Amino acid sequence: MENIIEVKNLAKKYGSFTAVDGINFSVQAGEVFGILGPNGAGKTTTLEMIEGLKPMTSGEAVLDGHNVSRETRLVKSLIGVQLQSSSFFDALNLKELLEIFASLYNRKVDAMELLREVQLDEKWKAQVKELSGGQKQRFSIAAALVNDPKVLFLDEPTTGLDPQARRNLWDLVTLINKKGKTVVLTTHYMDEAEVLCDRIAVMDHAHIVAMDTTENLLKMPGLSTIARFRVDKPLVDGARLKTLTGVTEVEHEDHTYRLTTDNSEATLADLFKFGREAGFKLLDLQLHQPTLEDVFLKLTGHALRD
Ligand SMILES: Nc1ncnc2c1ncn2[C@@H]1O[C@H](COP(=O)(O)OP(=O)(O)OP(=O)(O)O)[C@@H](O)[C@H]1O
Ligand SMILES: [Mg+2]
Repeated sequence: MENIIEVKNLAKKYGSFTAVDGINFSVQAGEVFGILGPNGAGKTTTLEMIEGLKPMTSGEAVLDGHNVSRETRLVKSLIGVQLQSSSFFDALNLKELLEIFASLYNRKVDAMELLREVQLDEKWKAQVKELSGGQKQRFSIAAALVNDPKVLFLDEPTTGLDPQARRNLWDLVTLINKKGKTVVLTTHYMDEAEVLCDRIAVMDHAHIVAMDTTENLLKMPGLSTIARFRVDKPLVDGARLKTLTGVTEVEHEDHTYRLTTDNSEATLADLFKFGREAGFKLLDLQLHQPTLEDVFLKLTGHALRD
């Protein structure tokens, strides 16, 4: 697949402070690529350098074959950047705003069609200040699409939204991506990264500490699954649980057991075998599979959110 973005040794320093420390990644045309990381990791700084909005200290970014530092204007015409709603002028309605933005690109836009795409066509006469949080976010995405960009950049698109508005925005991003646009987004929500992103770069303290599909990140060695169950009668040989394949820890209270395992499939197979041989039944078996939160903790030694 073709890489639409290539980032090499990209770095940003503010005085002696390093906000982005020589990161490397590429984004394939047509994918949703996510940068997941906690506050201050360097996500926004990274996006702004790739967008040509912030000078790089060193390294380079190439977007659709064009060097961002040398061909900044051209690159800007190929991308859509979600703006903060606070920067929209008052006094104009949504339709007029989209038309003004399009004219800045010397383009004509079907503003009503674009508003329909983000489900705001009924609100076309409204001003931005009259919109709800989720509606504002959707409008800012519409504004980022007026130049029909190849790549859409979204910086924490759902921060501050309620769960329903977040889902609604996820659907919109998925729809835009299905229509052929590459999407690069930042988030500190692991569920958002999991739902939306084909691949995720996990960023912490100015570095990318891992980069892969969610599925592969969750296969990282050393992540534990917790199996919880009750048994229908007291276990005579409870100590055998510790010897099941993969089990690293056993806790229990009365008839309820909690096994920590780094090989859940093998542990369960052994557990069922043990049950058959010893004549007990497993009740209410529950598995807690590792999440991206666990991946982050494993990689960095601290939680994604405090
Ligand atoms: N203009 C600036 N001058 C000095 N330091 C800055 C400046 N902009 C950002 N930083 C610092 O660079 C680091 C990375 O900031 P950045 O905004 O990229 O983080 P982020 O990952 O987007 O965080 P958040 O999730 O809070 O948006 C932070 O420690 C921040 O304080
Ligand atoms: Mg940020």
